[in-house]
Amino acid sequence: MPTDDSNSLESARALIGTNTHPRHIAIIMDGNGRWAQKRFMPRAFGHQAGVKTVRKIVEYCAKHEVEVLTLFAFSSENWRRPEDEVSLLMALFMATLQREVDKLDRNNIRLRFIGDRAAFSDKLQAKMTEAEAQTQDNTALTLVIAANYGGRWDLSQAFRTVAEKIAAGALRHQDISEQLINQHLSTADLPEPDLFIRTGGEQRVSNFLLWQLAYTEMYFTPTLWPDFDQNSLEEAINSFKTRQRRFGHTGEQLLEQSR
Ligand code: IPE
Ligand code: IPE
Ligand code: MG
Repeated sequence: MPTDDSNSLESARALIGTNTHPRHIAIIMDGNGRWAQKRFMPRAFGHQAGVKTVRKIVEYCAKHEVEVLTLFAFSSENWRRPEDEVSLLMALFMATLQREVDKLDRNNIRLRFIGDRAAFSDKLQAKMTEAEAQTQDNTALTLVIAANYGGRWDLSQAFRTVAEKIAAGALRHQDISEQLINQHLSTADLPEPDLFIRTGGEQRVSNFLLWQLAYTEMYFTPTLWPDFDQNSLEEAINSFKTRQRRFGHTGEQLLEQSR
């Protein structure tokens, strides 16, 4: 294949790459703190700027046939941060919900939360339940916010529920399968993520969707989350489109199928 011929390169990509939009995009929104520190501002300033990016990215996904957008907002390990940063993040979470839910609803966006919400204040939990109820019938985009979420937590709570069902006689241990475990995860009713994005330069999963990322295409960018915009997202999606997803097959098998 002549690499200097951009047309033939394009068509070869179309043949081997997915060339389709990702249905489900999952993002680790990282780099708020460093973005603020670079400006000699408190970390809180970075988190506030990060909310603006969330708005832009949600808007883009709603417009561009993305079915599910999952955003990692607060990990089960983020409680280890200084108390004042944790309180600030909780207050920002509450304020953002209060301000944005009606707008999300008007834009036909369904809001969902995954994670252990028992750790949140009663007021915040009530607001989360109310926001989910208000938007549950919306059909344009499902916006999943991972809050006090950890991949290990998700697997543990799934195993706990399965064990309870076995103890109660509703299931037998022989029934445990990949499909059954999947059905007990917090993402049971959602398609698996097609594209994973992490901003902020780190190349790690930090206990995000451990089970669900088994065949997800990974994309890492040094761009800090407050600087990430619709163009940056488009770049990530374009990268996704050039990937050949083999799911264990050979490239030749895929070419054969596409003929
Ligand atoms: C991500 O940005 C936001 C949350 C974890 C809530 P960080 O706060 O982790 O920013 P850095 O990584 O310190 O720059
Ligand atoms: C991951 O970012 C969690 C969120 C973006 C909510 P962190 O900044 O907490 O991850 P580590 O600690 O660098 O792995
Ligand atoms: Mg970070």
